[in-house]
Amino acid sequence: MMKPENVMLSDDGKSVVIIDQTQLPNRTVHLTLTTPGEFYEAIYELKVRGAPAIGICAGMGLYVIANGFEETEEEHFLTKLHNVSVYLNSSRPTAVNLKHALDRVENAAHTEKGNGTAAMLAAMRKECIAIQDEDIAMCRAISEYGLTLVKDGDGILTHCNAGPLATSCYGTGLGTLLLGKEKGYTFHAYTDETRPLLQGARLTAYELDKAGIDVTLICDNMASIVMKQGKINACFVGCDRVAANGDTANKIGTSGVAVLAKHYGIPFYVFCPSSTIDMNCMTGADIEIEERQPDEIKTKFFAEPVAPASVKAYNPAFDVTDAELITAIITEKGICRYPYTDSLAALFRGE
Ligand code: MRU
Repeated sequence: MMKPENVMLSDDGKSVVIIDQTQLPNRTVHLTLTTPGEFYEAIYELKVRGAPAIGICAGMGLYVIANGFEETEEEHFLTKLHNVSVYLNSSRPTAVNLKHALDRVENAAHTEKGNGTAAMLAAMRKECIAIQDEDIAMCRAISEYGLTLVKDGDGILTHCNAGPLATSCYGTGLGTLLLGKEKGYTFHAYTDETRPLLQGARLTAYELDKAGIDVTLICDNMASIVMKQGKINACFVGCDRVAANGDTANKIGTSGVAVLAKHYGIPFYVFCPSSTIDMNCMTGADIEIEERQPDEIKTKFFAEPVAPASVKAYNPAFDVTDAELITAIITEKGICRYPYTDSLAALFRGE
């Protein structure tokens, strides 16, 4: 199995090496993370980003940090482990994969209670590697399902970045395009730049171009015109947390794309590993939306500020797309359709 390069656990289990996504597309810089503060900062600053990649990095981080604990007394070890897990989980609130991965790695330690901290560490290592391996398999399966929804030559609108950098390989939202390319399909991607942090321009356009896929960058406010001009056959997005009723949190601007797609009669697809579905969250109203610094809108990426310093800026990092606007949610276990309260529950029952 090809190993992902965006998040890598070192062989000695003492560090995690990531590609710093804030430096792309201009520079490929690797960062070595070892301390709780370094992991927190890498996630908060979006050096590692995308719901699955955040979970994978945090899970590996928890193991790496625990590997450095001096405690050999189990209860002390587990208390310290829990405190680090809570700290890392506080770095970003919206993507459920973060908590999901941290809980899995912490629970792995608990399964070895009575066998000593070395056994706990071994179980944690196995678990965090399993999370990444499972993500690789999920992305592949999601991409295969995605190919059943499109045809050769289609125009696809993308928002934010849900490619290999945000996951492990293939990605979720971009997986269909990347796998399709390998199988000889020709797609035409229209990529929203995705203000304010430009994940579409910096990361999606980069990943698609590198893979040899025809990609055209558009500003976010151009989605309507390309839809009206008939250039778009489907919209592909990833997700950060899907509620039990199908309401979907994803990068800010996603719900606007869904509203436009509905208006123009274009299918709007959410690509979603089951690790991003939160069955404890009943509707989108229960999803916490991260709010970030105004400077990301007013100064970042600009040679000079683009608004007076005294002007307020509101910067929610995500929005929730209502389930009714989503044509299908594509998971590694199958394709779910509205009403999602039924189809997602059936998915988890294994039907
Ligand atoms: O703030 P980001 O860049 O972490 O937001 C990422 C997204 O919204 C992605 O679309 C989502 O995490 C899916 S990644 C497979």
